[in-house]
Amino acid sequence: MPFHLDELLTSRHGENFQLHEKYLNPQLTKVIKTLGFDRFYDHGEGCYLIDDEGKRYLDLLSGFGVFALGRSHPVIKDALHQAIDADLPNMVQIDNALLPGLLAEQLVMRSPDNIERVYFCNSGAEAVEAAIKFARARTKRGRICYFSHAYHGLTMGALSVNGSSDFKDGFGQLLPGAVEVPFGDVEALKNELKKGDVAALIVEPIQGKGVYEIDRERWREIESALHDEGALLICDEVQTGIGRTGKFYAFEHYGLQPDIITVSKALSGGYVPVGAMLSSDAIFRSVYSSMERAMVHSTTFKGNQLAMVAGLATLQVFDEEGIVEHAAKMGDLWKSKLGELADRHDFIHDVRGEGQMIGIEFGAPSSLRAKLRWKVVETARTAMFSQTLVVPLFHRYNILTQVAADNVNIIKLLPPLIAGETEIDLFTNALDELLSEAQRGSGLLVDFGVTMAKGVMKKTRTPSSGSRSSR
Ligand SMILES: Cc1ncc(COP(=O)(O)O)c(C=O)c1O
Repeated sequence: MPFHLDELLTSRHGENFQLHEKYLNPQLTKVIKTLGFDRFYDHGEGCYLIDDEGKRYLDLLSGFGVFALGRSHPVIKDALHQAIDADLPNMVQIDNALLPGLLAEQLVMRSPDNIERVYFCNSGAEAVEAAIKFARARTKRGRICYFSHAYHGLTMGALSVNGSSDFKDGFGQLLPGAVEVPFGDVEALKNELKKGDVAALIVEPIQGKGVYEIDRERWREIESALHDEGALLICDEVQTGIGRTGKFYAFEHYGLQPDIITVSKALSGGYVPVGAMLSSDAIFRSVYSSMERAMVHSTTFKGNQLAMVAGLATLQVFDEEGIVEHAAKMGDLWKSKLGELADRHDFIHDVRGEGQMIGIEFGAPSSLRAKLRWKVVETARTAMFSQTLVVPLFHRYNILTQVAADNVNIIKLLPPLIAGETEIDLFTNALDELLSEAQRGSGLLVDFGVTMAKGVMKKTRTPSSGSRSSR
């Protein structure tokens, strides 16, 4: 009997939240409902999500950076259809398939000269796990340094190098020898390196949680401190890599030459999970040092042919459509338009980031009356102000955004890399209106409270028509 996806989606339409409440993570369902973000999304097109009422939402999260090319890109879709129709001999395991070789070739071609080899896996965290193991194997040292606020994933190794205790609490002892260094603090790093047992420093060239940056000069000092002490530099480009910041890798902004690179998200084309760790041949040989050790670090789905095809098609589209250059140009536009807003609204304290990775930091305004209102909002809960913007951005303007991390008043924008002036205008005009409202002292906080109260009280929202929208 054939499998009828459309029938299944239609017959069970509207059960999403009940099913998640019952079988998946009910706390997440609670959060979504409390914020009133419970929509029945029907499909995605480019920078937009479309719900079952046909409403279009501008998606400035892009699946946490996965949809670099937007949703449902025709070239990636077609490539994957071709791959399935070709009945490719996937994961033979005792084999060397062509497609992983081709994707590795493409990635190495786009990397610095010292990067010669690729290990494929299935996620960002898995690429980070590989990076930690390979760095330890190469240096024969145990400790890994990481920066405060860092985010490298949530598996045990990656969690050990997470710069936020909120994620770590409750999971027992983590990897011994993981050492937190204050973000960008060269002296603190040098003090750790002096001990002679640090294998590597793992960094995000631009930090995801808060969009924090370090200047070029400081990066250079960090890099030479590592090299002086024989420790490796791991650049975790899972979020920033593959064009996100207007360069293929974000470390290019600072002239860095990492020993190990991790990538994931955007390489998937938005379809098939994939991760990769890249390094020199010497680092690879320290792990795969003999035929006996040929499988000493591996995973069943490495080099999955569908992921490889999605990756190859993604990189082809990047070249054909000039995606990296476009992201760089849009970064300038974001900064100029948000800069204009910052001139008019002193709630905006900083606009930072590169390309299509933008952080907008809010803080107390200067006028006495507005400052008082700010205090009221922030007394309700730390970093509440940015939440009182994220919620109406969604409810009133159909724009999906996120607060960059817990307890910071930073909205982070991670649009598809194909987003253009139209999308930038939609967001900046909406933010302009909301900040004008906040300045006038109308009830953003009250609105927010009402949304939360409704969310807490409501059970599962029922879909409008009982059926999926016809496209
Ligand atoms: C810099 C960085 N590294 C690693 C990860 C973990 O990737 P994944 O969620 O695919 O495990 C993320 C995820 O957001 C990330 O931003």
